[in-house]
Amino acid sequence: MRNKEIPTFTSVFEQEVYEGLTAFPKHLSSKYFYDEVGDKLFQDIMAMPEYYLTNCEFDIFEAHKEVIAQHFIKDGSPFSLFELGAGDGKKTKVLLNQLVNSNADFDFRPIDISQNVLDQLENSIKKEIPEVIINTLQGTYFETLRDIGKANGKRKVILFLGSNIGNLLHPMAIEFLKNMRDSIGDGDLIFMGFDQKKHPQVILDAYNDKTGITEAFNKNILTRINKEMGANFNLDNFLHWEVYDPETGTAKSFLVSKEKQEITIESLDLMVRLKRWETIHTEISQKYDDDVVEWLAEKSGLSVVTSFSDNEENYKNYIFKK
Ligand code: AVJ
Repeated sequence: MRNKEIPTFTSVFEQEVYEGLTAFPKHLSSKYFYDEVGDKLFQDIMAMPEYYLTNCEFDIFEAHKEVIAQHFIKDGSPFSLFELGAGDGKKTKVLLNQLVNSNADFDFRPIDISQNVLDQLENSIKKEIPEVIINTLQGTYFETLRDIGKANGKRKVILFLGSNIGNLLHPMAIEFLKNMRDSIGDGDLIFMGFDQKKHPQVILDAYNDKTGITEAFNKNILTRINKEMGANFNLDNFLHWEVYDPETGTAKSFLVSKEKQEITIESLDLMVRLKRWETIHTEISQKYDDDVVEWLAEKSGLSVVTSFSDNEENYKNYIFKK
């Protein structure tokens, strides 16, 4: 076992696991929750009553689809509707249907890291809303934002839903928004979902369901390391733990080691030692209010055009322009 020298990595996943598990305090990135098993677990999360985010956004779209579509259609000139991290498209289909019914001149360009997800989305849209011209794009957000920037002369509307931005701490979120800004022109729009600050218990329940789906989702990163890097994490030796700081609006997920343990990760040639009650931080899910969203926009060279919300203001969608 070499423990001191840094091995060569065959993927960014390997490199980040190495860096995260040799750091203090230990951490792993939530972007690695999503393999085929993780995608399925996240779909189960979206269907849980505690995970209010998905239903809220769906209800906002249902309630405000005419006005939202009118913002996208604008003067009637053709546009491309991009979606970052498209997923299964359940919410987006509400908007696509509305756009089709309003005779909008647009094409839909969903982007996702997973080709599997994109193929499923393409098939279901071709079946359910055959009027929609769809062109899928596989890649990471940062790669595809570059492609969006270079895309043809049509107007652009970029969707980034589900409060996916919440996985980024503010400095990274600003970097990301600046990238989005640089990939659009005057007259183009960005439409985004931001989960709002609310009763702290409601947030804790959303990320710590009694049925253990979120726990399984959080632990899936260990399963992936076991499968893909020949590690021997025992999932039962970890607690799923959620905290929410109502001052900063940051929800954090941890895996807490229930006992002193040593884990071997073969591909990394690494032995990981965990003390009893030592933590591995895995995810942040940031919560927002109007002031924070406006501050983020301003820092990124964007301005808020308007926003849409449910009655309780649990969740909001904002339209930004340059
Ligand atoms: C997909 C990043 C928006 O943080 O709310 C759900 C992921 N994590 N339950 C979120 C997630 C635990 C989700 N996002």
